Amino acid sequence: MLDATKVTPAQLAELSRHAESAAHQAYAPYSNFFVGAAILVDTPTGETHIVAGCNVENASYRLTTCAEQTAIASAVLEYGPKIRIRAVAVQNLNQSACQPCGACRQTIAEFAGSNAIILFPGHSGPTQCTVAELLPASFHLAP
Ligand code: THU
Repeated sequence: MLDATKVTPAQLAELSRHAESAAHQAYAPYSNFFVGAAILVDTPTGETHIVAGCNVENASYRLTTCAEQTAIASAVLEYGPKIRIRAVAVQNLNQSACQPCGACRQTIAEFAGSNAIILFPGHSGPTQCTVAELLPASFHLAP
């Protein structure tokens, strides 16, 4: 079981900075909503890395990829299928609240323990919660 207490405030602040910087790379000509995400991942060899992603939109709107999903796909490509997410930070350039969408919550849950931390701009400022709080009943296939 991952221990959320292993994530320090300094690590979360750094994650947030990476998320904001990734938002500058967003391809969002349709919504003009520029999102960045950064994930703190543990690898099976005991390393910890930060991987970032941004939203990538498409003229066929439903093909849009969210920032969180881009970050997770990049992390799997870079560090393999056994990564575990310890924390996620989401930012946007629109000074707007930006909770991870439902699909992103399920995607995060695939690679995170229930007590992994998610940090995002909420309606009353920066908000921090756990994966279980954001998605209490994630879908899992029976083994
Ligand atoms: N978006 C994300 O990147 N992450 C989320 O969790 C919510 C929404 C993006 C998708 C789309 O490009 C834009 O925000 C507006 O919905």
